[in-house]
Amino acid sequence: MVVLLNILMTRLLIIFLSCLLIGSAVEQYESPKITDSNEFSLMFPNERTSLDDCHLRFYKLNPDVEVKPVFGKPVPLKEFAHMGAIGWTQRSGNILWQCGGTLIWDNFVLTAAHCAVDSSNQAPDVVRFGDINLFSSDDDKYAQQLKIVNVIRHPMHKFSANYHDIALVKLEKSVRLHDTVAPACLWLDKELRFRKLEATGWGRTGFAQEQTPVLLKVTLKPISNEQCSQFYSSSINRKLRFGLHEQHICAVDERMDTCEGDSGGPLQIKLMHNSKVTPFVVGITSFGSTCGTSTPGVYTRVADYHGWIVSTMREKGAAVDENTFNATFCALRYLDYREYEDAVIVSKSAEFTSYNSANARINVRGDTSQLAKIGWDSDGRGNCFGVIVDEDTVLTIADCTHFKGSAPTILTYGGNNTAVISKIHVHPGYIEGSAYDNIAILKLAELLDLPIGFQPSCIWHGNEIPYTILRVMGYGRIDMSDFALYKPILLDPTETFLHIQARVFNESSCVLPNSYLRSLPRGFSREHICVGNDVFLVPESCRPMLGASVAETMGINYRKYHITFALNQQSRDCGFGEYMLATRLSSHIEWLKSVLLPSYQDTSSTLRFLDPDLQEGSSCENDAGLEGRCVTLANCSVEWPKFLAEGTAKFCSSSNVICCPLTNIKNADNSPIHLELLECPKLVKRLAVAYPPGSMVKIGWIHGEKIEFRCYGAIITKLIIIVSASCLSDGVPQFVQLVANVPRKSFDIDSILLHKDYNSTENSNDIALVRLRRPLAWSEDVFPTCLWTNESHVPLVMKATFEGNNKRIGYDFVAPMYNSDCQRSHPRKIHRSQICARSYKRKSTCISMSDQLRWDAPDGVSYLVGLIAHASDCVNWRYAVFTRITSFLDWISAVAF
Ligand SMILES: *[C@@H]1O[C@H](CO)[C@@H](O)[C@H](O)[C@H]1NC(C)=O
Ligand SMILES: *[C@@H]1O[C@H](CO)[C@@H](O)[C@H](O)[C@H]1NC(C)=O
Ligand SMILES: *[C@@H]1O[C@H](CO)[C@@H](O)[C@H](O)[C@H]1NC(C)=O
Ligand SMILES: *[C@@H]1O[C@H](CO)[C@@H](O)[C@H](O)[C@H]1NC(C)=O
Ligand SMILES: *[C@@H]1O[C@H](CO)[C@@H](O)[C@H](O)[C@H]1NC(C)=O
Repeated sequence: MVVLLNILMTRLLIIFLSCLLIGSAVEQYESPKITDSNEFSLMFPNERTSLDDCHLRFYKLNPDVEVKPVFGKPVPLKEFAHMGAIGWTQRSGNILWQCGGTLIWDNFVLTAAHCAVDSSNQAPDVVRFGDINLFSSDDDKYAQQLKIVNVIRHPMHKFSANYHDIALVKLEKSVRLHDTVAPACLWLDKELRFRKLEATGWGRTGFAQEQTPVLLKVTLKPISNEQCSQFYSSSINRKLRFGLHEQHICAVDERMDTCEGDSGGPLQIKLMHNSKVTPFVVGITSFGSTCGTSTPGVYTRVADYHGWIVSTMREKGAAVDENTFNATFCALRYLDYREYEDAVIVSKSAEFTSYNSANARINVRGDTSQLAKIGWDSDGRGNCFGVIVDEDTVLTIADCTHFKGSAPTILTYGGNNTAVISKIHVHPGYIEGSAYDNIAILKLAELLDLPIGFQPSCIWHGNEIPYTILRVMGYGRIDMSDFALYKPILLDPTETFLHIQARVFNESSCVLPNSYLRSLPRGFSREHICVGNDVFLVPESCRPMLGASVAETMGINYRKYHITFALNQQSRDCGFGEYMLATRLSSHIEWLKSVLLPSYQDTSSTLRFLDPDLQEGSSCENDAGLEGRCVTLANCSVEWPKFLAEGTAKFCSSSNVICCPLTNIKNADNSPIHLELLECPKLVKRLAVAYPPGSMVKIGWIHGEKIEFRCYGAIITKLIIIVSASCLSDGVPQFVQLVANVPRKSFDIDSILLHKDYNSTENSNDIALVRLRRPLAWSEDVFPTCLWTNESHVPLVMKATFEGNNKRIGYDFVAPMYNSDCQRSHPRKIHRSQICARSYKRKSTCISMSDQLRWDAPDGVSYLVGLIAHASDCVNWRYAVFTRITSFLDWISAVAF
């Protein structure tokens, strides 16, 4: 139960309708004052060179706040609610409690056949429930004592032998079901996967005098009958003429300091469902084991007697059939009376326990937005999933990329949306049936249609996992997993996704089902993650989702991100009891990069030439024999993709450092950027400006009587206005008007200069300068726009300005995008001298005639990062393509002064 609160940004003052967008809210410029949030200082790189950029690439504007509710409930002891003490009333009126039994139905108790009579051949006559201490009346508030009307031994049981030691006890009437008195379920599977079982009892077999007054439980380890027969062979034990049989279960107390439970009492396992635990009886305490030794106890295997139990109960009038003890139905039948699992218990006192449902190890509600289901055209695997890590990329395990010779073709995500798989990259090291390199990338034909604010999952890079608990997924019946909160659970077989909290285990503490081992001939390795829960689930209540993420949400800059650490390879019962084996993403980062990063992919053949000895600054010689130096890509004026295409590129120590011919190295000391541009921030700060649009002008045309303003420009010096070339392409304007507060003064235009390479077809080099006839005078209302000069990064939270309905400047928060991302859906080539940005809040980014991409720095200076092509109406795109100012700093410096 997570509630997300949107924290409204305090400085968003006036909201009005913008452009042609219906009902969309846009903030109006009021003041450059910026709150102290550090989000306005975050920077976004121009080039995508790492996969570790998810927190920037999918940044959200509003911080997330989490609220977790806690509730409490008074609880009496429930743990032993199925435990009955079987008693023999003596002539004195005293009752001797000599056997234990398990309530399995309202009026039936399961016990050992040898409990059918005592040493004087008397049958027991009473069973007592809900009483922890039989010899004290302090805890008798919940006790229920019922008379026995019938004891039915298994027909093949003989008192002279230790076989078929099972009996049913019928009570005079039904117990009153209560938290402290409720039947257990039966474990009917012959397979015992449990590493530990519990036995409960008041004392030792038969020796009433030595009974412990308080109900005890001991933890036992099941051992095989082969191991057990060294203690119990036909030669040692005359009651075992045929040795141990399948009907026997052996279990040993490894601590050797307690005794097992009463004769007839249960050997049990607690299985989880609905955040509660239900006891399942596995065996009935039969014989063996003396205190303080490692001799195992022997128990009658209940699963062998299912048929007899059902038919006998039916004969004696109970309305039961072969489905009555079905694990699912039985668990749900008594759900109200079960205790909560430990994980949801926050605090516990004698009278009151507090719970937090948010801690539940299984939750039926949760975010599945990063989940994709993998589908085949016809027959395919039904339980293959993947995690969306990008708008066109899904990660999964290699096992999920083939089924009977055919590959998956389609993905389902976000409810009923579908996407076509266009390419499948399987790790080259993967061998079918092997748990190594079991990872694959699915690329999609088109970008996913994802809701605004959607965040794909982030790929975790670190080798260490910063959490002890991670989230995994499974699916199963909703009624078996929904959190049980004071409500009657109705049978509902609908299947749903289950969100599971699983602990991370290291190699030595990882418990995997034996069936996985054949895919691990070299054993568990660093490329695996083991996660799970010690507790076992009711069988069939959680089915695995192969390829789904092992993830957690992480807070970065006050935002929550879904981080994927690994992908589920194999899991039985969703990692409950025995754990889940998952593919660790960080072990495959280099391969993921080689497929996912745009530059990596292009350079896969060239990368072989990478020389680790060549550091930044080292002398080098490129493949064409030209002398050069190792510099970062941004410091080399040759466009490196062109370089690569010609086969002349050579990388130095990393794919970001290139051997650049000496003549192409940009000289940092001799900056081509004019000093006045560089000093702008200082000037603006000195002017203590009040209103950022004070550095903007409207460009005006006079048509006879009529005045037309077609677009906006940014003041960069007292004489120069910068504007998009497309604004000026249909005729020379006559004047500019200040946007500054009052008065709206106009200035005549002297001349205009369009960039010589401006191409109106594709809007490249869409930049122009307007020169004024008279210089402006700086004031707190009229001042320059500073130009963004960082050539490698742009701010992460920028504003796109435009003219609102009331002719005032408004803005929308926009996020920069990598050109490679933008290019995926853009119809034309996006040049490096352009930059894309999308709205943080809307599916479309409205472009109108005044748009400038700006960054209002925390210190109050407003920078121009991009200019947009002139558009007469609002153009609704998912993103907008701007002219990137940093690409034109040299040009501006050269022609403006
Ligand atoms: C219990 O019943 C359910 C529903 O009919 C069925 O799917 C499941 O297989 C049964 N469980 C066992 C152990 O037979
Ligand atoms: C593995 O985990 C167990 C239990 O947390 C711990 O005792 C043990 O030291 C760990 N082993 C290694 C090799 O880290
Ligand atoms: C360019 O090189 C200079 C030194 O020549 C260095 O200080 C600067 O950081 C480099 N810039 C980039 C973007 O690599
Ligand atoms: C403008 O760009 C288009 C599309 O890339 C190209 O075909 C055309 O030749 C360019 N025009 C000029 C004058 O360079
Ligand atoms: C550009 O911004 C990045 C990120 O803030 C920073 O690391 C880098 O030094 C800046 N480059 C220059 C030349 O200022």
